[in-house]
Amino acid sequence: MNIKTIATSPFSDQKPGTSGLRKKVPVFQQAHYLENFVQSIFDSIRAPTGATLVLGGDGRYYNRQAIQVILKMAAANGYGKVLVGRGGILSTPAASCVIRKYQTFGGIILSASHNPGGPTEDFGIKFNSSNGGPATETVTEAIYATSKTIKQYRILEAADVAIDTLGSSRLGEMTVEMIDPVADYAGLMESLFDFAAIRELLAGGFNIRFDAMHAVNGPYALEILHRRLGAPAASIMNAVPLEDFGGGHPDPNLTYAHDLVEIMYGANAPDFGAASDGDGDRNMILGKHFFVTPSDSLALLAANATLAPAYKKGLAGVARSMPTSAAVDRVAQALNIPCFETPTGWKFFGNLMDAGKVTLCGEESFGTGSDHVREKDGLWAVLFWLNILAARKQPVEQIVREHWATYGRNFYSRYDYEGLPTEAANGVMQHLRDSFAILPGKTFGNYTVQLCDDFSYADPVDGSVSNKQGVRLIFTDGSRIVFRLSGTGTEGATLRIYLEAFEANAARHQLDAQQALAELVRIALEVAELQQRTGRDKPTVIT
Ligand code: G1P
Ligand code: ZN
Repeated sequence: MNIKTIATSPFSDQKPGTSGLRKKVPVFQQAHYLENFVQSIFDSIRAPTGATLVLGGDGRYYNRQAIQVILKMAAANGYGKVLVGRGGILSTPAASCVIRKYQTFGGIILSASHNPGGPTEDFGIKFNSSNGGPATETVTEAIYATSKTIKQYRILEAADVAIDTLGSSRLGEMTVEMIDPVADYAGLMESLFDFAAIRELLAGGFNIRFDAMHAVNGPYALEILHRRLGAPAASIMNAVPLEDFGGGHPDPNLTYAHDLVEIMYGANAPDFGAASDGDGDRNMILGKHFFVTPSDSLALLAANATLAPAYKKGLAGVARSMPTSAAVDRVAQALNIPCFETPTGWKFFGNLMDAGKVTLCGEESFGTGSDHVREKDGLWAVLFWLNILAARKQPVEQIVREHWATYGRNFYSRYDYEGLPTEAANGVMQHLRDSFAILPGKTFGNYTVQLCDDFSYADPVDGSVSNKQGVRLIFTDGSRIVFRLSGTGTEGATLRIYLEAFEANAARHQLDAQQALAELVRIALEVAELQQRTGRDKPTVIT
């Protein structure tokens, strides 16, 4: 066995963001860059000798090369076994599922989620712990600290591992086991939902369309929706995963999943449409000519959870990220279960689920999930919806409208300003923070500011505190404007403005969200001095 210790020097930019380290591919291709980060992970997590890891990614450009490097480094760092999705593929929820099912020490997931892929686009890497969820901030901070002082890494000198066939092989003293990337996950889904009822729904002329966006979920959707549930293969679009996602932006929203949106808003639209992102953890849900906001989707899943076999005994509690609308809070109140408000990012849900405090959770950013894994889960959300549709036998739009009639409607939208100069974006946030003292009590049109602060979160399980998690402007009627800078972008800064207004009056529920939120949008732009400070008069994306 030829283990090499290679001298290296630190890179200053290896701080994990909202979901791991994300950079452009050429950054990762610099000599020692990937190796430094992987060694920093290994040095920080201190796995016992002989431990098992899971390894896989969303198949984007550089995935295959990175798999080889990580395998050789794992072998040189004393790991006993690595379970690898065939071809180096595992969707993020499938990786979480495999880590949990085989009780491994953790896993390394290669993905930049919904960001574009290709030789000059994004790549990413993150570590998930033995619960299957993203490493906590304590761990990611330790990784960052290590990356700043790293002097050497260890790697096995060996030929590349054949990653396209199932089965075991040896790499030095370590076993590499290539596993089917879909089987464990598909089995888990079948154990949660009423597949017989969904099969019957689909056989009865209920038409669906799923857009895999040339990303990792294509094979998962074909196995589950087509082979196990009987949907025609043609109902899965863009099913072939590509290293550059066909040049698209694999983010399931109204802007980037436009092929699907056109079909769902066209003549003879299917009854149900859905899409997932690059690594399969996000979802967008559509009915015929109808868009379900992710915040509403979470609330609706919570309200209808007992229709799915996995949740028929009810929910322990629910959680949402702070910028996500409070629609789910209303359901929790009606069900008399706790509702937790966490900072943005999935890693904050893990502790709550491990402690049994929460069953369902979600984010406005097209992420929903439950305690079946410790990641958000795109296809799971699609199956949950299909299960509800099979049980209720009503169109998507009617189910949502009935939900609003029962609980009221939380009008919601997010404005993203991408690629801003970092100083301008920081300037907006600083200006808002400087206004904390003068804003409370101030009236803008129909709205009066009640509270204005920087959200901070004390984890109820481990007591850790996360500060500066977004600036909130809360108005006396409960409406909110939230400002935050993205922690996943790789170019300049992205400012996100989240807008929410509650409407109890059913007569106003048919309003268009942009209409209902127009005044809040004006207030947000005024308070932030957005145009003066950034020169932008329009957001890049509205969701
Ligand atoms: C974004 C979303 C956040 C999500 C994350 C990973 O992070 O806003 O909800 O958890 O992607 O998918 P952001 O870029 O806002 O930091
Ligand atoms: Zn994702």
